[in-house]
Amino acid sequence: MPTRIHILPDDLANKIAAGEVVERPAAVVKELVENAVDAGADRIVIDVAAGGRETIRVSDNGCGMGRDDLLLALERHATSKIRTLSDLGAISTLGFRGEALPSIASVSRMALESRTGEEEAGTRVSVEGGRVKEVSAVGRDVGTTATVHGLFYNVPARRKFLKGIETEMRHIVACVSQIGLAYPALSITLSHNGRPVLRLGQADRKRRVEEVFGLDVGREAVEAEAEAEGMRVHGFLGRPTFVRRSGACQALLVNGRPIQSRTLAHAVYDGYGGLIARGDYPFYALYLEIPPGEVDVNVHPTKREVRFADERRVYQMISATVRRALREADVIPEVSPQAFEREAPAGPAVAPGSYETKADPVSTAQEMTRPYEGGRRRRSRSAALDLDLQMSLPLIGRKSSEPEDAPEGREAGEAGTETAAVWQLHETYILAEIKNGLILIDQHVAHERVIYEETLRGFRSQPTPGQQLLFPLTVSLSLTEMAFLREVFPLLEQLGFGIRDLGGNSVVVDAIPSGLRQWEDGKLLKEIVEDLQEAGRSRSGLEERVATSYACHTAIRAGERLSKREMMTLIDRLFETEDPFVCPHGRPIVIKMSLDEINRRFGR
Ligand SMILES: Nc1ncnc2c1ncn2[C@@H]1O[C@H](COP(=O)(O)OP(=O)(O)OP(=O)(O)O)[C@@H](O)[C@H]1O
Ligand SMILES: [Mg+2]
Repeated sequence: MPTRIHILPDDLANKIAAGEVVERPAAVVKELVENAVDAGADRIVIDVAAGGRETIRVSDNGCGMGRDDLLLALERHATSKIRTLSDLGAISTLGFRGEALPSIASVSRMALESRTGEEEAGTRVSVEGGRVKEVSAVGRDVGTTATVHGLFYNVPARRKFLKGIETEMRHIVACVSQIGLAYPALSITLSHNGRPVLRLGQADRKRRVEEVFGLDVGREAVEAEAEAEGMRVHGFLGRPTFVRRSGACQALLVNGRPIQSRTLAHAVYDGYGGLIARGDYPFYALYLEIPPGEVDVNVHPTKREVRFADERRVYQMISATVRRALREADVIPEVSPQAFEREAPAGPAVAPGSYETKADPVSTAQEMTRPYEGGRRRRSRSAALDLDLQMSLPLIGRKSSEPEDAPEGREAGEAGTETAAVWQLHETYILAEIKNGLILIDQHVAHERVIYEETLRGFRSQPTPGQQLLFPLTVSLSLTEMAFLREVFPLLEQLGFGIRDLGGNSVVVDAIPSGLRQWEDGKLLKEIVEDLQEAGRSRSGLEERVATSYACHTAIRAGERLSKREMMTLIDRLFETEDPFVCPHGRPIVIKMSLDEINRRFGR
């Protein structure tokens, strides 16, 4: 019987393989520029004609190739970058497959010229549809020039799918910009039809980021930096007021490789918490350096995606770094008076994105200088009276005229509380006067933040004895719900719950955390289980999820009346937390309105 299966001719196999690597002109530019980077070039010149459909030429001053290497480079699976399987596990170059040149060569008319430092003359090879046409000697500088003509001339199906010149050019510029971000010390020029489009001179990271995104880092962004367990995150984050309608101003680079990752983008948004409205895209350029063995770059045909050995750790490091950088830079949402002209949003709390934010770089900068002393942020652990030291939101008590280092004490605290400039609005918000304006605090989310952090601390310290219930309570749940509850028994016990598992679908609760505000005869446990079920796909750990849920259901609610003292205590405790501006769900806790704004509003 004749066989049905046959091996494809090389020519066709190459074109299929090329289809994966070279989807459009920008992909050719990317591959050629990456080769130049790997060759150690510090100057790369890119010339394209007709959006790359006609010509793409990339010249570099890297190490170059000798005659034999130049011919080898055109073979599939020919590479100088890895040798063994173990090399594949820790790649430190951009290329490693030995696919790019043969792929490009098989779908175009290509000429490669190159010369190494050891040679007198260089070599030129011309290839057409993957076949070598001519090899000759050329005089040229050390380095390599690859010229690609008539991309997809022999793959009409592909050529047909190319977009207009402007679109292809846009992709090329985006690709060159991303590489530019990764290698600021590299000078790169890009011209289109003989006219310069991009000229990136040697720079440092900050300058390069400014060039590429056309922004002023000092004014519009904050710097982020963190290092832990061999991993380093560094970069720049737009202030919440510097947002765009698309993700064009976002870059994530892993070991010098621009990548796309929904998960890590999510980590950045997580770090912004509620500071960014839905539909807005903050600017960011974040560089992640991670031991090459912990990231697999061999997962996507164009290497646009990578896989991490421990993605959760990377996620958490990025979101924590972003959160900290924004917090330290004092980017609390600021309400502009215009926001009040619009109808108030429905619902008890300010939903993320329903307020307007406004940058006030001058006042922000001034405020930033105050809370720092000797380079360290002053954290008030004092009674409410001393609020004028609190971070960058100095609340004014009536005693604020006293010297800042006035002795702290209970009495003073109580006296201050009586006259403190705080008010409750609609039994939902706390309005407080601060040195240069006012702030509004959402009482529920503020309390949530306080409880959340206390709960997390509770999980990590000695178990707290709970308060015995006079009448133990039986709580019944479905079998699935019970499975969730069992998973968190140890955490709940840590907080002071006494829970006995009766097997099947009920438990008996004989103790609850002392001082628990909202217990409602076991409803709390059901709510926690429901939240856990919903958050099943969330990336945060179990402890964080339980703490979020516990805080949400036990915190003061909207609609509860608070005394001045309660409000002051809440504010005091809020500003002792790690993250007083964003609640565990990512909603804003504090919004402020500066005196400048108010004055301007009244025409002063
Ligand atoms: N501009 C260049 N300067 C010096 N050597 C180069 C240059 N471009 C390519 N080479 C050499 O040719 C080889 C083949 O290049 P090619 O791009 O096809 O594969 P690669 O870079 O090794 O892997 P990948 O397919 O992942 O890009 C490289 O390994 C490198 O040794
Ligand atoms: Mg390559």
